[in-house]
Amino acid sequence: MSMKIACVGVGNIGRAWASIFARGGDEVALYDEVPEALEAALPAISDNLSAMAEAEILENTDAILSRIRLCDSLSDALKGVNYIQESVIEDLGVKRAIFRTLDTEAPSEAIIASSVSSLPPSEFMANLSGGARCIVTHPTNPPSLIPVIEVMLGPATSEETFEKTSALLEEVGQIPVRLNKEIFGYVLNRLQFALINEALHLVESGYVSAVDADKIVKFGLGRRWAFMGPFETNHLNATGGIREYYDKFANAIGGILGDLKTEPNALSPELLAQLAEQMETTIPVSEIPARQQWRDKQLIALSRQFDGARLDNG
Ligand SMILES: NC(=O)c1ccc[n+]([C@@H]2O[C@H](COP(=O)([O-])OP(=O)(O)OC[C@H]3O[C@@H](n4cnc5c(N)ncnc54)[C@H](O)[C@@H]3O)[C@@H](O)[C@H]2O)c1
Repeated sequence: MSMKIACVGVGNIGRAWASIFARGGDEVALYDEVPEALEAALPAISDNLSAMAEAEILENTDAILSRIRLCDSLSDALKGVNYIQESVIEDLGVKRAIFRTLDTEAPSEAIIASSVSSLPPSEFMANLSGGARCIVTHPTNPPSLIPVIEVMLGPATSEETFEKTSALLEEVGQIPVRLNKEIFGYVLNRLQFALINEALHLVESGYVSAVDADKIVKFGLGRRWAFMGPFETNHLNATGGIREYYDKFANAIGGILGDLKTEPNALSPELLAQLAEQMETTIPVSEIPARQQWRDKQLIALSRQFDGARLDNG
């Protein structure tokens, strides 16, 4: 069923949401408090859709774009909507203010979802009269090509809001994953930075270069993690499954866990200079936009491989 969506805040993340909902068949209204950001949104979405059409994972970009409407006021964007995706900047005061405004101005049945990436929802969704319809839906960059969405309930979010939000996200090709309890930084980024912290310590102590640490993830861990998670990896690493794996390798695993540096790496200026020197030699800063396009092409290839042939719903 086609929904009426408002994307509020259309920087990097809000634009990607617009593309996801519109390619999924929904009508999308865009609003940003900065007129230049609103103006820049449609060309950016169009480029993003064209790259996907070129790779044949969607078609008819004109029909998709025709479902997107620019609004120069918030009240216009909120007219008759069923669902609002908030993607304003990550600042507690700004999130609190926009949630108060959206809760007051949005139609009473509309769900209000936040793209917030680290702040716990209880810090900006508390004491709202419509707290039951507020929820976190945290995407990963670039959201139009990475389907997982971390869904976290706020202090008053209803099960009905969770169910409806999950159904909508699945309808537009996303993979919602519910986090059972509120936690700072959510799960994806905590997992990511646990690995990065150890990598920083290993580079700083001279065990491996930054470029080679990347190679180990790129040609090693990442090869498996592109299609299965770390626990499935464990389970398949012993013919008797995960119980046998943790039993058979108990000494090695215990030794490594005991030896890991758990304190946060201080990221000294020397270490940062070393990382930057290596990364900027491999990819000069001037080549980052081209390399981002290369990254998106690889993600499109993965989408073709794992998510089926098409990302659009017509
Ligand atoms: N960039 C990422 O990798 C990433 C990933 C996942 C989630 N997020 C989260 O998504 C949200 C947006 O991030 P982004 O990277 O798109 O930021 P961004 O700075 O690119 O865009 C934010 C947009 O919000 C607009 N804005 C600010 N206050 C507003 C208001 N009161 N009303 C309307 N528009 C307003 C700004 O003009 C800007 O265009 C943040 O909460 C961020 O943490 C970011």
